[in-house]
Amino acid sequence: MATPNQSSSDEAKAISETLITELPVDEDIHLLNGFWYPTWVIHGLLALQQHFKPHPNDVLLASYPKSGTTWLKALLFSIVNRATYNVDDMMHPLLNSNPHELVPWLETYASTNRTNPRPPQSFLFHTHLAYSSLPEQIRSSSCRIVYVFRDPKDVFVSFWHFLNKLRPKDSSPISLQEAFNQFSRGASTYGPYWDHVTSYYKASIQFPNKVFFVRYEDLKTKAVFHVKKLAEFVGCPFSEEEENEGVVQKITDLCSFEKLSNLEVNKNGSLLIGKLPTGSTVSVINNAFFRKGEIGDSKNHLSEEMREILDQITDDKFNEVGLTTFVPLVKTD
Ligand code: A3P
Repeated sequence: MATPNQSSSDEAKAISETLITELPVDEDIHLLNGFWYPTWVIHGLLALQQHFKPHPNDVLLASYPKSGTTWLKALLFSIVNRATYNVDDMMHPLLNSNPHELVPWLETYASTNRTNPRPPQSFLFHTHLAYSSLPEQIRSSSCRIVYVFRDPKDVFVSFWHFLNKLRPKDSSPISLQEAFNQFSRGASTYGPYWDHVTSYYKASIQFPNKVFFVRYEDLKTKAVFHVKKLAEFVGCPFSEEEENEGVVQKITDLCSFEKLSNLEVNKNGSLLIGKLPTGSTVSVINNAFFRKGEIGDSKNHLSEEMREILDQITDDKFNEVGLTTFVPLVKTD
């Protein structure tokens, strides 16, 4: 006989499978309310909508893939847990675990734990879902959201490298042009990139105490300043004593690209991401999350025409919502 949990799980599965078959499809991603999500993400989203209970102290890190998620996971984890894990501690979790292990990815967790989609023992989570796709109970809760975004040219190049790195050895690589066409027309996983950014930007204007915007490029150039702002926003400001002891700088150093990318766990470890609907597991090698960590590497890969196309879309889309202050800074060349 089915338990209440089993029956609601079966119901969720039935709803999502019906829904998914009705969604517009482009290869293996589906268009749901304006965003392209893989099937398993939609399963996770439905589970979150039905069963996720936010806590007022929750902090949600949100990002479009390849915008600096790994970095922000490390920073936020160090900031909110610094009373438990001293940044000087030789056993600090970041020294032995990839940041993605320490900050659960909500929709992935939910896709495999559909009736109980809240990852245990954590108030810090991550999502790649657009703001308008977040379950209503998260949007209406008092939990805080940190959104990191990055120059779309660098995001695209980083994503293209990442996808090719993860492709099975016997498959041919995705060409730059093919990936570019998908990204620029918005049909890339979690895309359109521009609508993703503006969904959070609009929310940050409407709810400034709920949604905090931070830009990868700003963090790179003024890390200590922005780390302090992050800590204030998530309700864990640094005390004067901590500032005098250099804690902000130490956290910034611990989470730097140079430090994290050279740790054994990130050079040779791997991360279990989840299970496919077929039951097989998906793992990612940790070093795939660390490539160059620079501003403007896209100019080494994209033609001038490609860069102009992306800059033009960025200008148009960001101007529409008044994100003008960011436009000149988005152009790095
Ligand atoms: P590049 O491919 O341009 O090097 P995400 O974490 O969202 O998947 O984004 C990955 C990008 O962030 C990659 O960019 C990666 O190298 C960079 N990155 C990872 N850790 C970083 C860190 N600690 N500081 C700065 N950039 C980092």
